[in-house]
Amino acid sequence: MRVPVRLSAPGWPAALRHPRVSGPDPRGLLEPDGLDAESFSRAVSAFRLGGTYRTTAPGRHVQSNRVLLDHVPDRPLTVVDVGISDGSTTLELLDALGDRVGRLFGADRVLALTARRRGRWVAFFDQDRCVLVATRHLLLYAPDALVPLFAGAPGQRVSLVQPALERRARTDERVALVTHDVFAPWPGPPADVVRLANLLNRTYFSDADIGRALSQCHRMIVPDGLLQLVENRPGLGEQGALYRRGEAGFVRVAQVGAGSDVDGLVVGD
Ligand SMILES: C[S@@+](CC[C@H](N)C(=O)[O-])C[C@H]1O[C@@H](n2cnc3c(N)ncnc32)[C@H](O)[C@@H]1O
Repeated sequence: MRVPVRLSAPGWPAALRHPRVSGPDPRGLLEPDGLDAESFSRAVSAFRLGGTYRTTAPGRHVQSNRVLLDHVPDRPLTVVDVGISDGSTTLELLDALGDRVGRLFGADRVLALTARRRGRWVAFFDQDRCVLVATRHLLLYAPDALVPLFAGAPGQRVSLVQPALERRARTDERVALVTHDVFAPWPGPPADVVRLANLLNRTYFSDADIGRALSQCHRMIVPDGLLQLVENRPGLGEQGALYRRGEAGFVRVAQVGAGSDVDGLVVGD
């Protein structure tokens, strides 16, 4: 549900911290050294950017990783994970594929924000647009009226990517983090595998938009390459599907749980 205000969970008694009305406090991201990986993921999950929540958590693609490993050829591959949020699940994808990764691109429309503080209030900006004001008690998602309060406050770059993945991108030449919009042409090398996890969601995008994103995926994947969709719907666990790229579209080759909610759009039923 897209609400303009949520309670900042740590500032309220536990009885009021229902996930429908409350969210994590993202202000810890200004000092990421003080956060462990789990707290970092929680803090990043507070954001809603481009209409999609940044929600993520490690351990939620276990079955999909296994299915992918069963279907990829045994050679170094170019893999693109689009919509990585903080990259927790990207790190796990890297581990799962091991030496089958020739290149891995962790891609998202936004990888960092700019934070400006006024006392304990923090405004987060995506370019020039304020996307969230966080206080001890509230998360305000339509904060335009508050923006003048932060005029003149110095900006601090806030990475939304797990420090462990940023380190990996610096030290492992196979790994790169790139800003990329799933609706735009892929500017990198043709991909053997593309994963979209918790991105092509009908509560976020219209069927026409999902169709446009799938067309871009078709263009970026090599003939016979793989597209994997993963979904973690609240209360339903992990589900999704793996598709092979054909000349004219995609063919489903494997499924996890109930499959993908957008399967009909992928295979053109
Ligand atoms: C719910 S998170 C999924 C994170 C991770 N893949 C997972 O499954 O845990 C959705 C992510 O998609 C990104 N996203 C939203 N719109 C996008 C777009 N048009 N292009 C690329 N990424 C986008 C968001 O910024 C967010 O990080």
